[in-house]
Amino acid sequence: MTGRIAALRDKFRELYGTEPQTITKGPGRVDLMGIHTDYNEGFVLPVAISFEVLAAGRLRDDNIIRAYSENLKSLVEFSLDDLIFDKVDTWSNYLRGMLVFLKEAGVELRGADIAVEGNVPVGASLSSSAAIEMATGTLFQAMLGFEMSGPELALIGQKAENKFVGVNSGIMDQFISRLGKKDHALFLDCRTLDYELLPLDTGAVKIVICDTMKRRGLVDSEYNTRRSQCEKAVELLSQWLPGIKALRDVTPEDFEKYADRLPEDVRKRAKHVISENARVLASREALINGRIEDLAVYMNQGHDSARDYYEVSCFELEAMVEASRNAPGSLCGRLCGAGFGGATVSLVREDSIDDFMKVTAEKYREKTGIEPKIYVCTAENGAGVIV
Ligand code: GLA
Repeated sequence: MTGRIAALRDKFRELYGTEPQTITKGPGRVDLMGIHTDYNEGFVLPVAISFEVLAAGRLRDDNIIRAYSENLKSLVEFSLDDLIFDKVDTWSNYLRGMLVFLKEAGVELRGADIAVEGNVPVGASLSSSAAIEMATGTLFQAMLGFEMSGPELALIGQKAENKFVGVNSGIMDQFISRLGKKDHALFLDCRTLDYELLPLDTGAVKIVICDTMKRRGLVDSEYNTRRSQCEKAVELLSQWLPGIKALRDVTPEDFEKYADRLPEDVRKRAKHVISENARVLASREALINGRIEDLAVYMNQGHDSARDYYEVSCFELEAMVEASRNAPGSLCGRLCGAGFGGATVSLVREDSIDDFMKVTAEKYREKTGIEPKIYVCTAENGAGVIV
């Protein structure tokens, strides 16, 4: 990362004729467990990864924001008094959205010169959007010196995403991007936002991300359809299970009693979410007891359930899951993020990593004709100041 920080500093100087006062990072994430459970007020188990957005900034004495994206070679300028959606330089909406909701939360903003650069693959389900939100959020926090807890900043990121960018996502991505910890996975209760950092030893077993290179399609409309099917399930089930507020409140046993009274699509969605919540809880136990093989079993089950009942997989994800599960050293393979394309995640024995990467890529290429990208990554700290 040191080379990238130096390059960003040079770019900042070239653009604005001065040194940045602060440089922050916001990492991407991979979810080990908890597919589409977060907006059902359930449980998730993600890690912050060793791919991140870097943000450099210096405050100005006026209300102007100048922001540059090194990846897109795009420079935007706007006023804090006129924070509107940008239809052209859409990358800047993550920053604009953060500023809108920081302001709404009572933060006294000031203008700034900013430059960002990132290596989180975009459209790969690794949350490059949460990475830029948390990188720029912590940048302003550091430059202005206001008090705000990690969960609060994550909630501001979620608002930016939901109400400004227009994606109706849950809290998982911003939360882990802000609160992740090196060599730990984060167990989060998405209802209460209580969380627990669980040691994850990535010495003997590595986290490997396999990017199908298929960019997510239809994700927004399908995502919203899934959300409303889950809400419908709660509405119908509450006739027989009074008092439930979300699928999180339904046990697998109760669900089985009433499942056949639900329309098929609603029943399938609910079945996935309810069983996945139970698997995330079991995965937490497995991690606490150092039973990584058990975690891998739950990861496989979670994928199969997401494919069969939540129906968020696709041809390329299936090809990658099959290739990665059968490759040397592999303990599991599952889709990550929302699905519909993007990446899968596997746990792989360290001594077989090279063979795993070679065989997975070969098998995937044979089946799809697409050259995948495969990355070994580590669990990293969440967003914060670098210098
Ligand atoms: C996307 C959303 C998350 C979560 C996942 C599915 O990554 O941003 O909030 O809902 O999909 O688990």
